[in-house]
Amino acid sequence: MSTDPKNRGGPLDPHGGIDELGLDAALRPSTLDEFVGQNENKENLRIFMQAARERDDPLDHLLLCGPPGLGKTTLAYIVAMEMGTELHRTSGPAIEHKGTLAGLLTRLEKADVLFIDEVHRLQTVVEENLYPAIEDYRLDVMTGDGPHAQSIQLDLKPFTLVGATTRTGLLTAPMRSRFGMTIRLDYYPPEDLQHIVRRSARILAIEVDDAASLEIASRARGTPRIANRLLRRLRDFAQVLADGRITASVAEESLERLHVDTAGLDEMDRRYLRTIIEKFDNGPVGVETLSASLGESRDTLEEVYEPYLLQQGFIQRTPRGRTATRHAYEHLDIPIKSGGQGALF
Ligand SMILES: Nc1ncnc2c1ncn2[C@@H]1O[C@H](COP(=O)(O)OP(=O)(O)O)[C@@H](O)[C@H]1O
Ligand SMILES: [Mg+2]
Repeated sequence: MSTDPKNRGGPLDPHGGIDELGLDAALRPSTLDEFVGQNENKENLRIFMQAARERDDPLDHLLLCGPPGLGKTTLAYIVAMEMGTELHRTSGPAIEHKGTLAGLLTRLEKADVLFIDEVHRLQTVVEENLYPAIEDYRLDVMTGDGPHAQSIQLDLKPFTLVGATTRTGLLTAPMRSRFGMTIRLDYYPPEDLQHIVRRSARILAIEVDDAASLEIASRARGTPRIANRLLRRLRDFAQVLADGRITASVAEESLERLHVDTAGLDEMDRRYLRTIIEKFDNGPVGVETLSASLGESRDTLEEVYEPYLLQQGFIQRTPRGRTATRHAYEHLDIPIKSGGQGALF
């Protein structure tokens, strides 16, 4: 997926930047108890894992859905850890052909986790070869070619497929139906994010006041990865501009410098809203038009920006396109027109 270079790796980029991959890992909870929030999902998963362990079965195949940065990869690692097995990590686009898949599958030990990130991006032929592996733990492989070609069946060890996707809608129905359970991760409330910020601050030995951790939490777009990223940027400001401690005033000033507003929106979010309102007279605007106008890929708009703006009630999606809500006008301090094309209220 392409991302606007201006946003890539920026404070609100919900995809981990390469530079911070190591830090992401350092802050990643390794047990279910350390995983903050998502209580209902967590309790169900705990029960399913205990049941599987007691029966000495692998955990049933698990699908994790939700926007980037909400804990899908983290949960996959936790499953392997709690089941006492290995995690083998790959992604939909990385499995180039049947052979790559066969290589991955034959390496799995009993109850191991095969984690396929971006599972909606598997090639059709790879996906079709995966079905018998998921269902019956067998793999059909062809040996030889021409008249000597032969199909043989390989038995696989029973394993758990954990698939992650930011776009459930793009997953094929046959693929979706093969997962025994689905966990949908939703944006985190500020209390949970504050908990995460405090935990990360402890691990990184950063001093953060309560008011400051709450400020970070409420401006992190409901996303743990962004909360952690903001914490690290604020540590930089606190270190250079103050005495190292993140106080409420350090937090406020730094967030302003990072152009993160009180609703947690970044520059791109605001450009998105302004484009709909000012350039298109509040639409409805189609996503392709917005993508061209903003110079941002349609995927990124649909996967990263729109879910949060929708959830926070800044936009509405109609069959004819997107429109901004009254809440968006108020937040951006744009007067609401009472007549004309864009008059919705
Ligand atoms: N529930 C959570 N509790 C604590 N930290 C979390 C939680 N969810 C995510 N994180 C943190 O956010 C970062 C991004 O999570 P990740 O699992 O990589 O997200 P995803 O795979 O959904 O994009 C991780 O480094 C982890 O530290
Ligand atoms: Mg991930």
